Amino acid sequence: MTEIAGSVQRNGTPAAGRDYLLYGDFVDHGVPYNIYTLAFGSSGDGNLLERTGDNANIRHDYTAITAPNGLRIVSPNCLQCHAQMLNGQLVVGLGNSVADFTNDQSESVAAVDALITNLYGTDSPQWDAYAPFRRGILAIAPNIKQKVRGVNSADNIAAVLAAHRNRHTLEWQEEPTIQYPNEVVPVDVPAWWQLRKKNSMFWTALGRGDYAKISMASSLLTLVDTAKARQVNGQFGDVEAYINTLEPPTYPQNINTDLAAQGKTLFIANCQRCHAPMAVRPKPIPTCSYRSTLSRPTPC
Ligand code: HEC
Ligand code: HEC
Repeated sequence: MTEIAGSVQRNGTPAAGRDYLLYGDFVDHGVPYNIYTLAFGSSGDGNLLERTGDNANIRHDYTAITAPNGLRIVSPNCLQCHAQMLNGQLVVGLGNSVADFTNDQSESVAAVDALITNLYGTDSPQWDAYAPFRRGILAIAPNIKQKVRGVNSADNIAAVLAAHRNRHTLEWQEEPTIQYPNEVVPVDVPAWWQLRKKNSMFWTALGRGDYAKISMASSLLTLVDTAKARQVNGQFGDVEAYINTLEPPTYPQNINTDLAAQGKTLFIANCQRCHAPMAVRPKPIPTCSYRSTLSRPTPC
């Protein structure tokens, strides 16, 4: 077994990271707020996240934000995939294993198109605040359809969005510059509280270097330039710090302590070399801040 060397991570403020995760404009174009509530109602999910303002009226996996042109819009957030109901509670950080990627995601685009064009026309601030979101969804929709429910298409989403971006300016390109993978890879969403125990992100261990920068890939859905990427990048050290504070929910049933003691011995003998708790195999996160650069970050 080869152990992957860890990399230096940023420091950040967890409370600020939580705030940005739940209210932030990292996906900066979307559906006009009133169109969203027209289509999905304004009762949301009963405000599971206890958000304030107009975010109290929408589901936990969407965020109301102000688009660059000043219009209030709704866009999807990380909790589409990184939260799930468990025993009647919404658990932030639990991988969503009930998401349905078997549908054609472009169907909802046709419905929103019709609403915006009928109410405002395509020469309107509403359309402008929606258009980059629309083109992103239309590019990914044909390339992320799964055969079964419960598995996630994020790896393909990332590949398609990267392929449609100029690698230097991040500008959208109608024609992809790199070939998409032929297959839709079904992936499980890892729990966020395991990230701090790992030396790399993702099942493939492909996520090396600055985790915060890799984690902001969702922004590629709608951003229009590198200025926006730089702004989001500036916030993601805090998001990473918040993710690193999350703990798994406590097991809700009674535990047979005799069996648990036997299991502990078996676990230490058979599992611990890979599943060591933090106290056994500590992974310090040293202080460091990265400058925004296209080159691979070097530890400071
Ligand atoms: C469309 C679903 C989806 C969205 C939206 C999404 N993720 Fe993920 N995320 C995944 C999947 C799936 C993986 C695992 C991919 C793999 O390992 O191949 C993952 C992995 C991660 C990991 C690495 C976890 C580990 O232990 O390796 C982090 C951190 C993460 N996501 C953060 C975020 C943040 C922050 C956002 C919002 C800006 C976000 N993700 C949005 C689906 C999503
Ligand atoms: C050689 C290293 C290794 C050993 C030994 C090992 N595991 Fe794992 N285990 C992994 C890896 C890597 C993953 C994540 C990849 C995956 O789920 O396919 C994993 C995943 C898991 C998961 C799923 C975690 C999740 O959140 O989805 C459980 C539960 C688990 N292991 C339990 C055990 C138990 C119990 C033992 C001992 C009997 C054990 N493992 C031994 C490497 C190991």
